[in-house]
Amino acid sequence: MKFEVIGGKNCFGEIEVSGSKNNALKILAASLLFKNPIIIENVPQIEDVFRMNELLKDLGVNIFFKNKNTFVLDSSKVKNFKLSFEIAKRLRASIALAGPLLGRFNQVVFPYPGGCIIGKRPVDIFLGSWKKMGANVSEKNDIFSLKAKKIKGVNIVFRLPSVTATETVIMTAVLGYGKTIIWNPAREPEVLALIDFLNASGAKIFGAGTSKIEIIGTNGKLLEFKKPFKIIPDRIEAGSFLILGAALANYLKIKNCNPDHLMNVIGILEDIGVSIKIGKNFLEVKKPKKLLACNIKTSEYPGFPTDLQAPFVVLMTQAYGQSMVFETIYDGRLNYVEDLNRMNAKITMCDPHRVIINGPTKLRSREIESPDLRAGLAFVLATLIAKGKSLIYNIYQIDRGYEKIEEKLQKIGLNIRRIE
Ligand code: EPU
Repeated sequence: MKFEVIGGKNCFGEIEVSGSKNNALKILAASLLFKNPIIIENVPQIEDVFRMNELLKDLGVNIFFKNKNTFVLDSSKVKNFKLSFEIAKRLRASIALAGPLLGRFNQVVFPYPGGCIIGKRPVDIFLGSWKKMGANVSEKNDIFSLKAKKIKGVNIVFRLPSVTATETVIMTAVLGYGKTIIWNPAREPEVLALIDFLNASGAKIFGAGTSKIEIIGTNGKLLEFKKPFKIIPDRIEAGSFLILGAALANYLKIKNCNPDHLMNVIGILEDIGVSIKIGKNFLEVKKPKKLLACNIKTSEYPGFPTDLQAPFVVLMTQAYGQSMVFETIYDGRLNYVEDLNRMNAKITMCDPHRVIINGPTKLRSREIESPDLRAGLAFVLATLIAKGKSLIYNIYQIDRGYEKIEEKLQKIGLNIRRIE
């Protein structure tokens, strides 16, 4: 499947944001911590969620759909603690399942997780934490087997604030014996949302959003689900629409988002000349007469999100002057710029982490392949800016994280269609 994009047109109208991919994947994993069925609303219909469902079903979780975005998950009969290697290898977030499985069964078997091709993605922080908590870890041919007598509460210091490691270790510690402390945890809104969900179900987790999280284990007792949880709006999808609006909108209203989660992006867009109206759960944006260049650096929340780095680089090809973008989270997340240069962008790679963009340039349409999810979305934006017809291949990558993106963009007057 591919996208055909006819670019060079502005957009106008309203666009809806779906539930957050990275919150949904972790809440789905958390279903394994419960003795009764859980209900989750606002789950996005995206390929990564489908893969996670397949993994959960394979473990023995029963999944029902109340409607297309409301899932009921019943883990009460699960006995299996071995992840399907085939599926888990396709999804980095599969490692999040190892956390609750280890907490529940004191053992788990999983493969080295897959995911985007955006650089080395080690799992040392996960393994180091589990070892401290009492697990014996063995590894053969990229398959990890962990076994513990019981999961004990310990003091863990993270070398860096990994998002999924924070969430996964919390999901192990929550069923453990005693108190676990995580120093230097991640503070992303998705982490806070997972903690809210667990605390609403009887867990005792303190310090979310600070530099120290404390988890009081249940001494092996599973959690009890009480009320439906609504997945938070996807701040990366909303941020992608904001950037698209800054490049192409005569007027764009972005609905169902949480502007508080996007202040890092809003502030920078305002600095470069974009006017944004901030509502309670919406944003309005218009393309300015002149976009200014700027320097940004990606960092952990509340810094500028690495997941918006690629669309932002595309935007900077339209800005007046020289911009520098410094990617600090991943080693291989700027490789896509070569393809933008083939579209007539003027981007110089200084080193694997830094690029300089000279703008503005008239982007040219072309045939292009999505290397990963976020660069794929950046290519959608670039081809929408470029006059003429482009084709984007490998759109599975885009479907991994954006729900029917072409339908959303068609509704605001953009010319993009899916070709089988
Ligand atoms: N890291 C290690 N060792 C570990 C864990 C992480 O060195 O044991 C490193 C990573 O290699 C990376 C840095 O720590 O250089 C930060 O990675 P983090 O662990 O925070 O990322 P993640 O949890 O694997 C999540 C999102 C990513 C998003 C990052 C950063 C999910 C499923 N994925 O990944 O989302 O880029 O946080 O915010 O939650 C995406 O949606 O396209 C995506 C890649």
